[in-house]
Amino acid sequence: MSWLILLQTNYCMMMKVAIIGTGRMGKGLLKTFYRAYGTQVIFTGRDIAHAQSVIEELDLSLQAVPLEEALQADVIIPTLWFSDLLAWAQEHRKVLEGKIVIDISNPFNENFDDFTTAYDTSAAEELQKVIPDSHVVTAFKNTYWVVFDAPVLQGLKSDVYVASNSGTARETVMQLLKQLPFRILDAGLLKNSRTIERMTLLSSELARKAGSHPRIAFNLWGLEHEGLPQEKQARTNALKPVS
Ligand SMILES: NC(=O)c1ccc[n+]([C@@H]2O[C@H](COP(=O)([O-])OP(=O)(O)OC[C@H]3O[C@@H](n4cnc5c(N)ncnc54)[C@H](OP(=O)(O)O)[C@@H]3O)[C@@H](O)[C@H]2O)c1
Repeated sequence: MSWLILLQTNYCMMMKVAIIGTGRMGKGLLKTFYRAYGTQVIFTGRDIAHAQSVIEELDLSLQAVPLEEALQADVIIPTLWFSDLLAWAQEHRKVLEGKIVIDISNPFNENFDDFTTAYDTSAAEELQKVIPDSHVVTAFKNTYWVVFDAPVLQGLKSDVYVASNSGTARETVMQLLKQLPFRILDAGLLKNSRTIERMTLLSSELARKAGSHPRIAFNLWGLEHEGLPQEKQARTNALKPVS
């Protein structure tokens, strides 16, 4: 491990991560982050008593905090629908300045069969426009809430594509997420969210046809699978081009 990665890993072990929202994704992220980061995780929702009841339901040793306190964290994960997200971000724009904001939203229409955004933009890019002084980082766009309970299938971790216009923020989030049971991939600039978000539309349609919705996740072939048993790694290596 290089000194830079070691430094980033140590920094991640000190960062506070706030998960905002008590819905399906809020709960899934809370469970997953708590297992890796314990009390570094901060949790809240519009109703703090309800947020506390979710913590108790999941049997976690945490205390829900007011939103104002949660927004002091280093990394903020709002788990709102895109239709509510931009107004929320606008309202908290000042306090979000300089912070990393992880965007998980997919801009679905009311029928969940298409997006409300044009092809030349994405939810993440629209969010970045509203909070230009924050570092928006795309992640978990294709991770259905049920997948948090079983992110590894047949020995293969499901993919999380991480994109941001800030290379530093992207790298920080990747180091943060690498403690979670997913394969974390550097997906480059935020404009790649146009594709990443639309991949959710595709996976949704494929899963509905197969009758497995929402139990579906991406796992691209031909990329390394860090941390898997040697046998699985060998299988991955077999996909590498022969020179
Ligand atoms: N469902 C999935 O499998 C999945 C997968 C990938 C990405 N996503 C994305 O994740 C986001 C949440 O999806 P979900 O399935 O978790 O939805 P959900 O269960 O309906 O939860 C929505 C959350 O939004 C919050 N909320 C709603 N209106 C709000 C407002 N005006 N101000 C502040 N908070 C508000 C609620 O917070 P309170 O706790 O305060 O009520 C709730 O926690 C969406 O953007 C979706 O596209 C979902």
